[in-house]
Amino acid sequence: MKLDEKEFFLIKDRIVRDFGIAFRDEKRELLEEFIEERLKSTGMSAEEYLSVLKDGINRELILAVSSITNKETFFFREMPQLKIAIQLLQGMLKSRHRLRILSLGCSGGEEPYTLSILLHERGILFPGKEVSITGIDIDPKAIKKAKEAVYSENSFRNKEIPLSRYFVKEDRFYRLKEIYKRIVDFREGNILDRKTFLEFINVDMVFCRNVFIYMTDEAIKIALENIYASLSRDGYLFTGSAESITNRTDLFIPEYHEGFAVYRKTDYRRKEAL
Ligand SMILES: C[S@@+](CC[C@H](N)C(=O)[O-])C[C@H]1O[C@@H](n2cnc3c(N)ncnc32)[C@H](O)[C@@H]1O
Repeated sequence: MKLDEKEFFLIKDRIVRDFGIAFRDEKRELLEEFIEERLKSTGMSAEEYLSVLKDGINRELILAVSSITNKETFFFREMPQLKIAIQLLQGMLKSRHRLRILSLGCSGGEEPYTLSILLHERGILFPGKEVSITGIDIDPKAIKKAKEAVYSENSFRNKEIPLSRYFVKEDRFYRLKEIYKRIVDFREGNILDRKTFLEFINVDMVFCRNVFIYMTDEAIKIALENIYASLSRDGYLFTGSAESITNRTDLFIPEYHEGFAVYRKTDYRRKEAL
């Protein structure tokens, strides 16, 4: 369905403002195809449907946003960075019994499950240590896929991974073994919305990788404020290795590990000294 300029800009404005997606014009066609498809499946008229989209944050708007976001991801993505994360988590587990990890913009679950696999492989998940990884994404379909944990070849780029160790092959698909699912759960949520983070306080490590590259500057600022409020005093934030936030915020400072920037809350050392 072709949107007229006014309709297009109204919907685009909502998507940019409420979800932070940097909406380039080539996404217009994707949005129009999505609306066409929804008109068929809901039986609504174009006028009715557009008034729902413009009405506020609702299910249809979230589905529309999801239709234009980039969801590319794969298991063991940016492995050198993940190795650093696992070392840091191992260090943290020595002095605490509980670790809480968030994977923001988790797409189909490849990132949080990779973390679970790596933590299991390190052999640091002893009884009595409570470790949880929560994946959050705006896209309901991505969250459904993550909960099912069944993947095609597209989710694997690294040919050296011993897939049969972590997955059971079913026809052309790979089902993640139950053991790696146990410490992982998933929610739908918008990282620009403070409510998404309300139940997550004192989080030890946040991954928000390959999400900011698709967001506006203003949205990144809001997301960083939300992450800051959720992280523990000495928590860590990982962004994608091409997504430096150093010049974007004074809430976080980089700490370098093997050449990679890992972010800490600005005042964590000062508070430690008090
Ligand atoms: C390119 S994927 C990154 C996946 C994974 N983090 C990685 O690095 O491989 C970006 C994900 O962010 C999600 N996303 C985009 N905007 C979001 C928002 N405002 N709140 C929550 N998730 C969002 C998209 O739906 C998509 O699944």
